[in-house]
Formats: sequence, structure tokens, C-alpha cells
Amino acid sequence: MALPYSELVMEHFRNPRNVGRMEEPDAKAIEGSPACGDMVAVYLRVDEESHRIDDIKFESYGCASNIATGSIITELAKGKTIEEAKTISWEQATQALGGLPPVKVHCSVLAVDGLRAAIQNYEERHGLVAEEIPTDAVEVRRRLKRVMNPEVGLDLIRTRVVSDVEVSEGVVRVVLSLSEDSQFANNIREEIIEKIEPIWDVDEVIVEFEE
Ligand code: FES
Repeated sequence: MALPYSELVMEHFRNPRNVGRMEEPDAKAIEGSPACGDMVAVYLRVDEESHRIDDIKFESYGCASNIATGSIITELAKGKTIEEAKTISWEQATQALGGLPPVKVHCSVLAVDGLRAAIQNYEERHGLVAEEIPTDAVEVRRRLKRVMNPEVGLDLIRTRVVSDVEVSEGVVRVVLSLSEDSQFANNIREEIIEKIEPIWDVDEVIVEFEE
């Protein structure tokens, strides 16, 4: 049965704005939805002085609603300062699309989470973190939910390949129950370092393979 999408949702789905990958962005994030397992990537180019979002792009690995909300949040965020963009909510994105069927609301939550994670990545890369909460293993695991295990197309936590995480004096050690010879070992290592290293109190990330 076809879902009752608004005209606007269909229009953004068919012609998504600001879609695609950005080369050398100032910040980026990949966010996954716990509800459906889909993912969205958000890339930002931010003016260093005014902290205004000059350019934003997204890639969706999700459904029609996620493509449409990804598209609308890029329109809502472009030209705003990062402080202003942080206040964009999924309710606002949904409203701007003329509504979404209730079963599809999590798709707009995913798009907004992607935007917020990209802003957080910008703040961390640029020393703008307001609340300096010490990083612990729980926080590292939370962020590893954003690293894909390409072998199965799901994140590292859900695929249970993270066997240990230790955080001590600025050094984060992540142990994976994977072989270092596996086809994707290098990609996974690089992605982990990319996600964890920008955290304000992390100096070094060590990724070990235990198989
Ligand atoms: Fe997964 Fe829409 S069903 S993002």
C-alpha cells in the first residue's frame, strides 16, 4: 500500500537538494537510525569567522522520507550559523515538508541527528566544545555506532565486532574481533580514528585486531 506522502515530500524525494558527497568538508557525520538501520551522511562547509554554514550536502542510505528530510534540512540549515542550525528540530523539518506519515517520523529524526552530529564534529575539530565532559568507554561505543562494518552493511556495535574499549589519559584503545587481513580492516581503522580523534580530550586512538 502506498504511503500518503505530501506533494512536497514527493518533490524533494524526486529532486533532492544539496545531495552528494563534499570533497574536503570542514565537518562530516554519518548517523544511523536505531529504528530501521538506515543511514545518512551530512557534510558541512563553515565560515571560520562567522561560523555560518556556507555549504551543506547529504547522502542518504535510507527511504523516500529520509531523502526528503535530508533535502529539507540542508535547505533549512544553509546560511544559518551553527548555533542557529543546532535548533532545527525534526518537528520543524517534518512541518516544512507538509507532514510525514507517523510511521515515517523516525526518518526525519535520523536526518536531524545527522545534521547535529556534523555540527558537533565541526565544534570538536575547531575547539568549540562548550561542555567538556570527560570521554569514557560508553561515549566511545556510542560513537562507534556511526562506523560501518562494510562486510554486512551495519554499524560496528550492532555487528558485535567491538570486543573491548579502554580510555586512559587521552588514549583510546579499541579492540575488534576481526582479522587485520580482512578486506575492510584498513577502512574500518581509518573510520574509527576519524570519528574518535576529534574528541576534545583524545590524543591518540589505537585500533587492534584480535583475530
Ligand atoms: Fe529508515 Fe526511513 S525507514 S530512514
